[in-house]
Order: sequence, then structure tokens, then C-alpha cells
Amino acid sequence: MQYQGGKYMGGNHIAKILTEHRKPGQWYIEPFCGGCGVLGRMAFPRLGADVNPYLVAYLQKISSTDWMPSVDVSREIFNDMKTNPENYDPAWVGIVGCALSFSGKWFGSYTGHIKKYQEIKRGSRKGEIRKYDEKKKMLKSAERDKKLLKYSAFVLKDYRTLDAEGYIPPESLIYCDPPYKGTAGYPFGGDFDHDAFWQWCINMVYKGHTVFVSEYSCPHDFEVVWERKRSSSLSNNKEYNAMKTRPTEKLFKIS
Ligand SMILES: C[S@@+](CC[C@H](N)C(=O)[O-])C[C@H]1O[C@@H](n2cnc3c(N)ncnc32)[C@H](O)[C@@H]1O
Repeated sequence: MQYQGGKYMGGNHIAKILTEHRKPGQWYIEPFCGGCGVLGRMAFPRLGADVNPYLVAYLQKISSTDWMPSVDVSREIFNDMKTNPENYDPAWVGIVGCALSFSGKWFGSYTGHIKKYQEIKRGSRKGEIRKYDEKKKMLKSAERDKKLLKYSAFVLKDYRTLDAEGYIPPESLIYCDPPYKGTAGYPFGGDFDHDAFWQWCINMVYKGHTVFVSEYSCPHDFEVVWERKRSSSLSNNKEYNAMKTRPTEKLFKIS
């Protein structure tokens, strides 16, 4: 699904590299699974975790039942869901909060009303009218998630508790796509301690796991195994905005 900072675009490249590094039978663990842009492209056995309770409720329900979300979501319902999520099915909140929100940002601006938009191509003054239906897109995403995520396991956990609680089997392949340093952040999990996160990755390598991380930069001299320029809805990073450049997203192999 469309998800803030999600890897739906480009996730196939990352999944291909991770698969090349994966040993037969090795568990795939994704502690910051979000909209599962990578997890859905990895073979079993696999486990996704995240701290967003509504998103995890959605992932658990869509992957293990026949349920499909209703698209009967007016602006009023969207706003009420944002303020009083406890009055709704958490799985429904989980997909509506991203899929009917501008750029997939958690309950940002409502987009369920947009039916068409004008696309202005570079070098042209005339805009092309395009059909655009976010509700239809939300249903398509849910259908795709149902297919790609079927039988996957998801847990509502902070990444720091996963190992201590036995969710990371020995010698796992761990792929982390954490909140990026200098970007807008996420509504659950509190302030993200980036230094503690890198230390956790190093500890996981010492424990015998294979660890990869997506980020713009890294405080250590780890190998970059893949990179791409990225336009991100999360680019609140003043440094990049001042340079008017698109940041380069990298995939690091921790060693
Ligand atoms: C960059 S997004 C992941 C996007 C995902 N790779 C995708 O394709 O959609 C980062 C995720 O980390 C989650 N997160 C933030 N802090 C966390 C924590 N302490 N433990 C686990 N997940 C956390 C957020 O809820 C968010 O879903």
C-alpha cells in the first residue's frame, strides 16, 4: 500500500539483493515492516513487526482472513477515525490512515474525494486530465496485500524487544527500514534514538544474524550494497531541501 517512507517503489531491488544474501531456510525478519514494500517480496519463513497498532492489526487481518476494507469513508468518517480510532475496527483504521491520506502520511490530508487531477508535463503548459480514485486504489492495494502477504506473521513490537522476546531465530536475515534521520517521523514508538538503533544492529551481527539497513547515511563505515535517488514525502531534512537535491537512499550491509 501507499505508505509514508514505504518501499513499494524500489522494494523489488532491495528484495532481490536480500534474497541473494539469504541462506537456504534462513528466517527473514523485518522489524520496521510498515506497508511491507519489501516483506511481501521475500520468501517464507518471514516475520514482520512494527509499533503502529492499527497498521499491524490491518496486516494481521488482511493476511489471515477473507476480510476486505470498506471504502465507504467520507471526509467526516476519516476525521472522526483520526480523533476517535477506538470507535472503529483497528484494521480498517490501519489502511484508511495511510491509503486515503496524502502521500500515505498517517492521517494527513484526506484524499478520498479526489476523482481527477491535472497532470502538467515538463515543457508543456497544458495539463492532461487524469482519472484518479484513491478509494479504488485503496481496494487494489488491499487485494494486492491479501495476495502478497497471505500466511505471513506480524507482531506489534518495538524493535528493541524482538530479540529478548524470542522473535528472532538464530542466524536470521534482518532487514531494517527505520525512520530516517532528519525526516518527519512516525506517530507511534516515540522519539527514535538513531545511535541506539545502529548499536542494536551491531549487536545483532555479533549474535550471528545477517543485518541490512536502508538509510540516507550511516555513522559507521559499512558497505553500501545498493543506492538510489529518492523523492520522499518525508524529506523534512533541511540540509537536503536547502541543496534542492533528492537524497540518496542507501542499503548498508552491517558487519
Ligand atoms: C520507513 S517506515 C517502513 C516502511 C516499510 N519498509 C514499507 O515498505 O512500507 C518505518 C516504520 O518504522 C516503524 N517504527 C518506528 N519506530 C519503531 C520502533 N521503535 N520499533 C518498531 N517499529 C518502529 C514506523 O511505525 C514505520 O512503520
